[in-house]
Amino acid sequence: MCGIVGYIGSRNATPILIEGLKRLEYRGYDSAGIAIINKKKSLKIFKEVGKIIELERSLPTPAETFGKTGIAHTRWATHGEPNLKNAHPHADENKKIAVVHNGIIENYKKLRKKLETKGYNFSSDTDSEVLAHLIEYFNRTEKNLTLAVQKALKLVEGTFGIAVINEENPNQIVAARKGSPLILGIGNNEFFIASDVAAIIIHTKKVIYLQDGEMVTVDKDKFELTTLENQAVKAKISEVDWQVSAIEKGNYDYFMLKEIFEQPISVENAFRGRLNEKLSTCRLGGLSMSGEELRKIKKIQIIACGTSWHAALIGEYLIENLARVSVEVEYASEYRYRNPIIPADTLVFVISQSGETADTLAALREAQARGAKVFGLTNTIGSTIARESDGGVYIHAGAEIGVASTKAFTSQVTVLTLLAVILGRMKDLSPTFGAGFIKELKQIPQKIQQILDNDEKIKQIAETIKDSTNALYLGRGINYPVALEGALKLKEISYIHAEGYPAAEMKHGPIALIDENMPVIAIALKDAIYDKIISNLNEVKARNGRIITIATEGDEKIKEISESVIYIPETIHSLHPLLSVIPLQMLAYHVANLRGLDVDQPRNLAKSVTVE
Ligand code: G6P
Repeated sequence: MCGIVGYIGSRNATPILIEGLKRLEYRGYDSAGIAIINKKKSLKIFKEVGKIIELERSLPTPAETFGKTGIAHTRWATHGEPNLKNAHPHADENKKIAVVHNGIIENYKKLRKKLETKGYNFSSDTDSEVLAHLIEYFNRTEKNLTLAVQKALKLVEGTFGIAVINEENPNQIVAARKGSPLILGIGNNEFFIASDVAAIIIHTKKVIYLQDGEMVTVDKDKFELTTLENQAVKAKISEVDWQVSAIEKGNYDYFMLKEIFEQPISVENAFRGRLNEKLSTCRLGGLSMSGEELRKIKKIQIIACGTSWHAALIGEYLIENLARVSVEVEYASEYRYRNPIIPADTLVFVISQSGETADTLAALREAQARGAKVFGLTNTIGSTIARESDGGVYIHAGAEIGVASTKAFTSQVTVLTLLAVILGRMKDLSPTFGAGFIKELKQIPQKIQQILDNDEKIKQIAETIKDSTNALYLGRGINYPVALEGALKLKEISYIHAEGYPAAEMKHGPIALIDENMPVIAIALKDAIYDKIISNLNEVKARNGRIITIATEGDEKIKEISESVIYIPETIHSLHPLLSVIPLQMLAYHVANLRGLDVDQPRNLAKSVTVE
């Protein structure tokens, strides 16, 4: 999704902005641009469709692009095609004020019409351009960019994270947010604006997360934080705890591959300090509920999108099975527009890696508006969901840059497993179960490593399916959502159509698709329903389907029905997903890579979807 970077200080802004935009590439975009105020105090705008590298190549000489104040943007088209005129920054007609905008101005048509009747000419199809003209309109009388921005934003309905510069005051950037994340980075006699810390952490780790309805006026040597109504706000400076290496690929070809291989550590980080060996249970400090309150819970709703939604489905199996509490999993985008029933004693969880997904945030607010207590499960400290929820748990997966989520998923599942055990231990689960669970969980990182060590074999299997046009993923019970996640990974990055199905449900439809060309990737682990899934796979075999199985180490029999087998180490049933998903992530990665695709930035997708 769209990204914002801004710089003001004594260095040349252009390379800093370009570097910042590159750090935001992972979020997904289709065009990019920068605006700087150059040495002659003149506003210059450079834009390009496509990758940042194209923008960089198109820039004139360094002398022409030198400026100490600038803003930049990556655009992910919502209103208007991804072309040059629609790329940001947008400017007023005299090219004195430039604006970059994330979010959507819902009443832009009305505002545009009004401005047009006043004689304003528009040069793009975007909703964002109205901001440039509106700010210019108010600046004519205010002669003060901060006040002009405030007046303009008063008329705006929708969401925004914006940064604005004006050549008449070359040493100033004004930035504001409502519904779209924005950060002020504080450097050494320099300041940064960004929609995502990744854009600026090579320069500073000292940041202020702007809250909704806040704005900041940044001058060369000072900044002033206020509300959009011009009330002073006390600044709370936070320290970003990411290492710069977290946003570098290191020796890996792609972030996704790096993140897949980080899972032994990221899963451990998700449970570190959260195991209570003495009482054979787990703890999640952020839950902030007493045992008594937790025992009273009759129902849990989990709301999420995409991969996080798949983690939620696994949470449903775990919590219902271990804690015997009824769980309902909802798509955030649906939840917000229906009339959800939240009975008394219901606990609502929202899961979001980014903590910024617009639909999930809206669902959180809807549940709160109905009086529910909402907990957030996020990866991003200071994110809007983390701030707005009534309590919550960080998954501590570290920066996830690859658009296709991998390590965040296993960390989400780890935390949901801890939650299920906590609730279960308050009810029927025995201390023996709790102790056995903890012992097994501690071995998971090393077992994930064992699967990762099998990379070459998984790559060979990927080679055999890389030219397929369709693929079917099957699983049962707790591994059914894992099949959904495996299918999602494949389609996201390889563009092969893939579907996940409960294995037994296959005979009610997808079986019609089975022939000798259709790879069927099945999770068939040794558990209570092993024989059942083998029967389902025999139905595939009888129709000449190609079967690739994810099987438990030592299961020789499964070779009889499989074209290939990927073995994973044995573990207890509740922890299966943490292992069974790993080969599916690796398979998707290798298929996409063998097809020559950009694994980290798949077409049309965005890392964090901050619009509806
Ligand atoms: C986008 C991403 C997915 C992600 C989903 C939910 O669609 O491409 O990878 O699962 O958003 O994101 P969240 O940050 O809320 O987990």
